[in-house]
Amino acid sequence: MKTSIRELIVSKIKDGTVIDHIPAGKAFEVLKVLGITGKEGIRIAVVVNVESSKLGKKDIVKIENRFLSKEETDIVALIAPTATINIVKNFEVVEKRKVSIPKYISKLIKCPNKTCITRHEGIETTFETLDSSLRVKCIYCGIELSYTEFIDLILKELSKS
Ligand code: CTP
Ligand code: ZN
Repeated sequence: MKTSIRELIVSKIKDGTVIDHIPAGKAFEVLKVLGITGKEGIRIAVVVNVESSKLGKKDIVKIENRFLSKEETDIVALIAPTATINIVKNFEVVEKRKVSIPKYISKLIKCPNKTCITRHEGIETTFETLDSSLRVKCIYCGIELSYTEFIDLILKELSKS
């Protein structure tokens, strides 16, 4: 574990999840897609626009006492593909993983196609990520959305709740 003066802007955590190497300015969107509002009562540190050797500038999110699983954090890849997830236990990084876009993404948004069966039969939506084309597709009606459109809808939906 390296410690630099710059890192001391926010202290190390004892236990929890550190989401590092987030593109500058995206930290709050990362928290939103994870469904973390700040009302959970856990301590969260959000560091924005700090120097990074790899990215120029980056954001970091530190969530204390929660160990986020691969399934929970992979959604972050849509907004922050460069993000690294660090699981910290007793001050040490015990697991480090890259985020990867899930093949199927369920339940996060309503399908934007008003005639889609999911809008009428109370079925949870599932979108499939289309390899190499930066798009997702509703598995029920086939409507396609770009990652940007998809993320915008997710953030809109989450800000309603
Ligand atoms: N971290 C923390 N609390 C700890 C340990 C690590 O908040 N007890 C944070 C560090 O500040 C850093 C991230 O978790 O933002 C990853 O830590 P570490 O692997 O030690 O840093 P690097 O080697 O710089 O990571 P990388 O190689 O992924 O850039
Ligand atoms: Zn649909």
